[in-house]
Amino acid sequence: MIKLEEQMRILDFPDLGDERGNLVVVEGGSAIPFEIKRIFYIYGSDNEVVRGCHANLRSEFVMINVSGTNKVKVDNGYETSIIELNRPRMGLYLKSNVWKEMYDFSPDSVLLVLSNEHYDPDEYIRDYETYLKMVRKLSEGDEEADYE
Ligand code: TYD
Repeated sequence: MIKLEEQMRILDFPDLGDERGNLVVVEGGSAIPFEIKRIFYIYGSDNEVVRGCHANLRSEFVMINVSGTNKVKVDNGYETSIIELNRPRMGLYLKSNVWKEMYDFSPDSVLLVLSNEHYDPDEYIRDYETYLKMVRKLSEGDEEADYE
């Protein structure tokens, strides 16, 4: 069974700012653990909506709230963790095959998301029961492999 702590990581980006203001650089392959193929951002969500609610077969993500705050609930079918994104220098790296929900957006929230994959709806799992079945199957495979 894969531990959730191995499927996610908090990233702390350096600030290259000076008296003129702050400057945060995130480069694919170094600060970001993958080469960036896709960027999208979510704003205008509020504290009543829940976004995400899916897992991805291939996409990895780094989420950065560059303007306000939001929370992310991460779930691998066995463990869950809630992370608050509350500063522009903080990133949340998520590997593939984790279920995620983004919520509790502040009015000034701009959630920037970077990914290693182009958009492909076929690699999204949007049904939680299907996701649970998939991770159970994967973890059974792991346990069998442990005995070999
Ligand atoms: P959706 O996955 O529901 O967004 P969220 O994960 O934030 O809840 O995406 C909303 C719509 O946008 C849906 O029709 C798919 C489309 N979309 C793209 O075309 N490309 C993308 O990279 C993303 C993230 C979404």
